[in-house]
Amino acid sequence: MPDMDNKTPIRSFDFIVLGSGIAGLTFALKAAEHGSVAIITKKHKAESNTNYAQGGIAAVTSQEDSFETHNNDTREAGAGLCKDEVVRTIVSEGPDRIDELIQLGMRFSEREIPDSGGVKELDLGKEGGHSKRRILHCKDITGRAIEHALLNAIASNDQITVFENHFAIDLITSKKLRVSGANRCLGAFVLNCESHAIETYSAPVVLLATGGCGKVYLYTTNPDIATGDGVAMAYRAGVPTANMEFVQFHPTCLYHSKAKTFLISEALRGEGGILKSIEGEAFMEKQHEMASLAPRDIVARAIDSNMKRSGADNVFLDITHKSAPFIMNRFPNIYSTCMKYGIDITKEPIPVVPAAHYQCGGVVTNLNGETNITGLFAAGEVACTGLHGANRLASNSLLEALVISHRAINRIQILKREGKLTHSKHELPKWKSGDAQDPDERVVIAHNWDEIRRMMWDYVGIVRTNKRLLRARKRIANLREEIHEFYWNFKLTPDLLELRNLALVASLIIESALKRHESRGLHYNLDYPAPDPRWQQKDTLMIPEE
Ligand code: FAD
Ligand code: SIN
Repeated sequence: MPDMDNKTPIRSFDFIVLGSGIAGLTFALKAAEHGSVAIITKKHKAESNTNYAQGGIAAVTSQEDSFETHNNDTREAGAGLCKDEVVRTIVSEGPDRIDELIQLGMRFSEREIPDSGGVKELDLGKEGGHSKRRILHCKDITGRAIEHALLNAIASNDQITVFENHFAIDLITSKKLRVSGANRCLGAFVLNCESHAIETYSAPVVLLATGGCGKVYLYTTNPDIATGDGVAMAYRAGVPTANMEFVQFHPTCLYHSKAKTFLISEALRGEGGILKSIEGEAFMEKQHEMASLAPRDIVARAIDSNMKRSGADNVFLDITHKSAPFIMNRFPNIYSTCMKYGIDITKEPIPVVPAAHYQCGGVVTNLNGETNITGLFAAGEVACTGLHGANRLASNSLLEALVISHRAINRIQILKREGKLTHSKHELPKWKSGDAQDPDERVVIAHNWDEIRRMMWDYVGIVRTNKRLLRARKRIANLREEIHEFYWNFKLTPDLLELRNLALVASLIIESALKRHESRGLHYNLDYPAPDPRWQQKDTLMIPEE
């Protein structure tokens, strides 16, 4: 019901994009060819997981590689849960999407072809689980370069308005407005973090591109924005999630008391870096034929077990056998960041630990980014298309975001021609703050944040048991009750909104983990230590209550 006291105007666009990482920006640029676009992003426009991506984008661009090999590597890493058609489509459409990125101004690193008189070709990197060199990169700052190229293109596009420091709270759907007929997404409520007003945005098409949820864990490679807001918003609106138990832990996050979160790219292992225990043993040799370059789930578990056995706080990644000029040229960001913490990676091994990195599950979509709500699309890390299965192959996520954002636009054009995505005839409501108070107990919000993240790390981490999962279920239920009370009684702040989302996403991870009675890929439960063929090709669906 409209709130007449709220003076904030309703903003109307042809497309609303929630998030300004690779998925949101790619979609926005393409959408702008067909109408006006609002990009709503909760912090500075470049702040995203995309901006921190190091290794690069996996795609078949060399004569020595093939779609079939890339498909096989993806399926092998995905441990029997990848969707075949999705893998084939994303892998085969990747090279065209990468060409478009290059047209926009993205420059990938090149190398001189030996004995060619100076002719250059793409310098392809290698990462865990890849049987070929196929990672296009820009040294070790690939994400920053992509974000820069996309934001540059956005800046000169008159059809696109970027709303920074705008926090999407919830989706507005026809069902919530009690309009009869199939459920449609009509817009979103958004907190303007500068004016503190809650604004209504309206559009017949909304793209969720809000990224992942690394912050649900105490230790993560993800920046602060990764609080699972998109999954939480979609679930509250009635969209199922799939495979949320498959949280990818990156094996090598820098271990240093002053480094909040800094990834040591797998590409370093691709160039010969070797994982070693504190005793100096190259322990991956015994674990897998690909040794330090085995798929991530295997490497992260081996590190976890090595640390538990030795009682050490970390293991080491050693690349000192490579020449200093090579290391400094190929990994300038890792070299200089480690140097800042007093570690010269050309001379000494790097202390590393695993940390939560990537959400393989997410909001259920098809290959066109469509959800079960008309007009609501999702792309990038927030979505579960079926590409990653039980464990994502390194550098496949930037690829997936590019392909799905492109396909979503094509699908939207078809739906529009069929008259299925018209502007809403119903007046959208304005937010009612009622008599909400300023939160007087910020300390409780901060405490709950810490409690969730620590509990998830301790009970729902790399190695799980039924007992720990059941404990986690109990704790999260209590916390959600408390947070619910806060949400309805106090004025909304970004911290409170994130806490509410984090708690919901944590409970989805816990419940999904409890449902899967086997170990597969990233989900490892000591009570069911082996894969069970009955679970192969079976997604763990969480269906919102009506
Ligand atoms: P993001 O890039 O995370 O963007 C999400 C956007 O949504 C942000 O702008 C955020 O502010 C905004 N947002 C979130 N919630 C809200 C809200 N409520 N309201 C408004 N805005 C909101 N993948 C690879 O393929 N190759 C790599 O080399 C690689 N390296 C990585 C290195 C690091 C350190 C990390 C953390 C990840 C890496 N990944 C890599 C994973 C990859 O970067 C991400 O999966 C991908 O960038 C996700 O893109 P996205 O557009 O879906 O989301
Ligand atoms: C890395 O550079 O190790 C990260 C690659 C990825 O997560 O895909």
